Amino acid sequence: MDTKIIRWRSHADDDALIEAAEALKNGALVAFPTETVYGLGANALNPDACRAIYEAKGRPSDNPLIVHVDSPSKMLQYAEPENPALFDRLAAAFMPGPLTVVLKKKKIVPDAVTASLPTVALRCPIHPAAHTLLRLADVPVAAPSANTSGRPSPTAAEHVLEDLYGKVPYIIDGGSCDVGLESTIVLPHANRNTLTLLRPGGVTPEELLTVCDHLEFDKALTGVLKEGEQPLAPGMKYRHYAPKAPVTGVVGSDENVLAFLAERLAEGCGVLCFDEDVKILGASKRLAVLGGRWDYAMQARELFSKLRFFDSSDVTAIFTRLPEDDLLGLAVKNRLLKACGFSVLEV
Ligand code: TXA
Ligand code: MG
Repeated sequence: MDTKIIRWRSHADDDALIEAAEALKNGALVAFPTETVYGLGANALNPDACRAIYEAKGRPSDNPLIVHVDSPSKMLQYAEPENPALFDRLAAAFMPGPLTVVLKKKKIVPDAVTASLPTVALRCPIHPAAHTLLRLADVPVAAPSANTSGRPSPTAAEHVLEDLYGKVPYIIDGGSCDVGLESTIVLPHANRNTLTLLRPGGVTPEELLTVCDHLEFDKALTGVLKEGEQPLAPGMKYRHYAPKAPVTGVVGSDENVLAFLAERLAEGCGVLCFDEDVKILGASKRLAVLGGRWDYAMQARELFSKLRFFDSSDVTAIFTRLPEDDLLGLAVKNRLLKACGFSVLEV
């Protein structure tokens, strides 16, 4: 298949999106930038178009898609919030933005989108190109991350090209993504002022607690699920974000961790570390830097491209530093732990 690449850098380029928006509405797949990661979009009301997403990505059919709309009020056409007051507070505080809400679905949403669940995940992105595309297409757009299933999510158009060139008719190149990690997913409780966090992301737990009294964490966030256990977000059970070489997290005192990482680096392994570590470990082409130790925003932006970087090197094992559990650090750590398959070594 021919893939047309459309460059978009500002609203001055909006007209370049008209053809792709029309094709999207008529059932074609369009990869597009959002503030979190690139998405692979299909008309959510067209089950065949949605099925084509699964094929292009090699995605397991039991993993439902997020539906994107251009305003929070449009979510109400596709879902019924069981806790309208909590939904309104989420919308006022975080939409448009990197937040996905799981709500009871209306009949109009096809099973091909929700993998036959009674709920639908909805998001209103803030990226201006995504917003224009959604407005022009004038349909809800089902979109998972625009990577081959299992690979790190794409945070730049080049990553989408690596995975999907020749498999989809349109890729919109909007430069690199601001957040760099997929959206935060929450499930509001029907009659308590409580949210369950299904996936940490750009909206942090601290921020969510400004609109609810309690935040519960789905058990898939804290470790490997036991036989028979299911995460609330079906996609959280897969070993995601994985470069080809196995990844291991390393924790312990700074002195021990850095000594351990220096040894692995000398042996030819890949190492992911913080800015501050470079002067101790020394420059190396097998060293990838996430950002400053406390600069979680930078770590979030860099993480997926650094995991992809190792795929183009010859390393056969990767060892990584892990950030703390607060603020956006939680989301960065969650993706790293998933890349590690929760394998962490204490040194
Ligand atoms: O930032 C994002 O959310 C990006 C951009 C493109 O918007 N999209 C994204 O989609 O990350 P994807 O498909 O890679 O991840 C969607 C996650 C999966 O873990 C899936 O299981 C979960 O959302 N999900 C979708 N519908 C759900 C539902 N009804 N209930 C629970 N989880 C759901
Ligand atoms: Mg994904």
